[in-house]
Amino acid sequence: MKLKLGLAVMAFTVAATGFAVANDKIIGLRQQIMKANGAAAGVAVGMLKSEIPFDATVAAAAAGSIAGSNAIFFELFPAGTETGANTKALETIWSDPEGFKAASLKTVDAANAAAAAAAEGPEAFGAAFQALGAACGACHETYRQK
Ligand code: HEC
Repeated sequence: MKLKLGLAVMAFTVAATGFAVANDKIIGLRQQIMKANGAAAGVAVGMLKSEIPFDATVAAAAAGSIAGSNAIFFELFPAGTETGANTKALETIWSDPEGFKAASLKTVDAANAAAAAAAEGPEAFGAAFQALGAACGACHETYRQK
């Protein structure tokens, strides 16, 4: 009896540790997606500051990558990923999932608008990209630790 209980406890501990590692992988994925958002924004800002020659195709792709990733970003916050792996996610994500999803989808719309504006040239792209940057910042303000 004692042995059985001991084995059961051990199995549970192994399972719980396994879940913690799996959850860290989910946190790692969402952080990588955000790092890619940062890289894409860096390309756009580089073009707007004339540090990188403006290229409508590249600008549209950078904005498009932000649109694509934010369409699924909000799905990567299952229960159990509130803590761990140095996550900067705030508890408000789980207390207000609808608001968080809306902030993600608003960013998708802004990114699609910026991707479309790229064809009109740097000025149109710059204006649309500013709205996109504001959408990033608004979500960070409410749902991410400083
Ligand atoms: C819907 C909310 C939301 C939007 C929109 C959003 N972010 Fe984030 N961002 C987060 C959250 C939450 C984290 C923290 C994730 C974690 O640590 O688990 C984060 C983290 C980051 C990080 C740090 C990644 C790391 O771990 O090193 C960068 C860089 C970043 N975001 C850039 C951006 C940029 C650029 C945009 C817009 C193009 C953007 N974010 C849009 C919520 C958002």
